[in-house]
Amino acid sequence: MPKAYSTGVGKFLQHYPKLATVVTVKTKEQENALAIAWHCALSFEPPLYGVAISPKRFSYGLILEAKEFAINFLPIESVKLIAAVGRTSGRELNKFERFQIATEKPIKISAPILKDAYAAYECKLVEHHTYGDHEWFVGEVVATHYLQEAFDEHEVLNLEKIKPAFYIGNDLYAELGKIAVHHIGRTEIF
Ligand SMILES: Cc1cc2nc3c(=O)[nH]c(=O)nc-3n(C[C@H](O)[C@H](O)[C@H](O)COP(=O)(O)O)c2cc1C
Repeated sequence: MPKAYSTGVGKFLQHYPKLATVVTVKTKEQENALAIAWHCALSFEPPLYGVAISPKRFSYGLILEAKEFAINFLPIESVKLIAAVGRTSGRELNKFERFQIATEKPIKISAPILKDAYAAYECKLVEHHTYGDHEWFVGEVVATHYLQEAFDEHEVLNLEKIKPAFYIGNDLYAELGKIAVHHIGRTEIF
């Protein structure tokens, strides 16, 4: 199949799908949630997780103030919640009230954990750095929440039970179709 070439990135969607997550944050005065597709695990020891947040987002200042955040991993059934917090701003409304978002208590930080999340990481901000038009916030994972029945005994997500929400850009969300999980043993590689 022929490939197209470009010297620019256009809408910069070629690297999708990405897991559509929700980052939550709480300061003394305010709590908020926003959708985040740009995020990544960075280190096992200590456990570090990074999220890219534009300074335009209301949440940007809240995370700098709170110095902590939580990242919530959600199933495709929660797609409306993701879109709701990803297309509105906490500057104008309290998203938890407006969208009746059910939360659970965090263990080590203040940011609420979403009830619908099949997993969530509580993170304490350890570093942040500006890369272009986004800020890369690095959090140390100080507590983990997960739906026990969604994971097997090796802590691997059971895709028969949970269909994670993926984002492919342009307000389009995707779920895994026919499930085919391939185990490639390390001795089978060559
Ligand atoms: C699926 C999805 C993924 C998004 N990913 C990001 C992201 O990775 N980084 C970011 O800064 N904004 C991202 N956004 C945009 C913010 O979620 C959006 O601007 C939100 O309204 C900000 O809310 P706030 O102003 O209350 O912080 C995404 C939006 C959607 C719908």
